[in-house]
Amino acid sequence: MALIEFRGVKKAFGPKAVYRDLNLDVNEGEVLTIIGGSGQGKSVMLKMLIGLLEIDGGTIFFDDKQISGITEAEYAAVRRRVAMLFQASALFDSLNAKENVAYGLREQLDMSETQIAERVRESLTYVGLPGTEETWPADLSAGMKKRIALARALAIRPQVLLYDEPTTGLDPINVTRIADLIQYLNDTLDVTSVVVTHDMDTALAISDRIAMIHEGFVIFSGTPDELRASDNPQVRDFVEGNAPVDEDTETLLRSAG
Ligand SMILES: Nc1ncnc2c1ncn2[C@@H]1O[C@H](COP(=O)(O)OP(=O)(O)OP(=O)(O)O)[C@@H](O)[C@H]1O
Ligand SMILES: [Mg+2]
Repeated sequence: MALIEFRGVKKAFGPKAVYRDLNLDVNEGEVLTIIGGSGQGKSVMLKMLIGLLEIDGGTIFFDDKQISGITEAEYAAVRRRVAMLFQASALFDSLNAKENVAYGLREQLDMSETQIAERVRESLTYVGLPGTEETWPADLSAGMKKRIALARALAIRPQVLLYDEPTTGLDPINVTRIADLIQYLNDTLDVTSVVVTHDMDTALAISDRIAMIHEGFVIFSGTPDELRASDNPQVRDFVEGNAPVDEDTETLLRSAG
């Protein structure tokens, strides 16, 4: 059953069309991974879903209710049910791990200090970092920061977890650890997970379904086995690591020499 539906969604920034006609379902309880080249609109998709970016046309449904074009107060209610691990996933450097994880609880939920402490403890345990309440971001490795940021996202006990490039910049051991964690949390917390990644190995390992976006459309959606067997040339290029970089990236690379 579809928990989230994108129907004919359009999004442009000035003359640049990111989505011309986005149609995609996210089923309840699944791990759906979104793949696609840099600049294809993966982060934009997640941001449109939680109302950080407005859509230009079409409709987004969550739990059978239209959530595109709703008020900011209504989006606040959506964000209590749909939490996001951001691409940069920055922790607040001036707050210890406990206060970083408690942040959403204080902002979004009405909980006592005892309840907050208990929820923080549970959330840190879920990400494999029990007892790290008093540590400071400056003293943590990149992998640990990611996991604390993940504890912050799941602390509100969302129905949906969105992950934007959760493994980028991590060493192979931490990539595997985060990939395992995504599956573990999906099963243990009974959430629906949408994971955006460049990393084919992670996508193939953790996903119930994979969707590939290219030039504003979903050009493939199916299981990891169906992806491996796809003969769509764009899918093949991406899976085999020959995907062309987009213009923005090309310009950047050129200017960097
Ligand atoms: N707030 C914004 N204002 C203007 N353009 C934007 C904005 N956000 C995204 N874009 C543009 O929309 C396109 C899609 O961006 P998006 O960040 O979704 O790409 P992505 O697929 O997540 O790429 P990456 O893999 O590099 O993170 C890019 O061309 C980007 O420059
Ligand atoms: Mg992105």
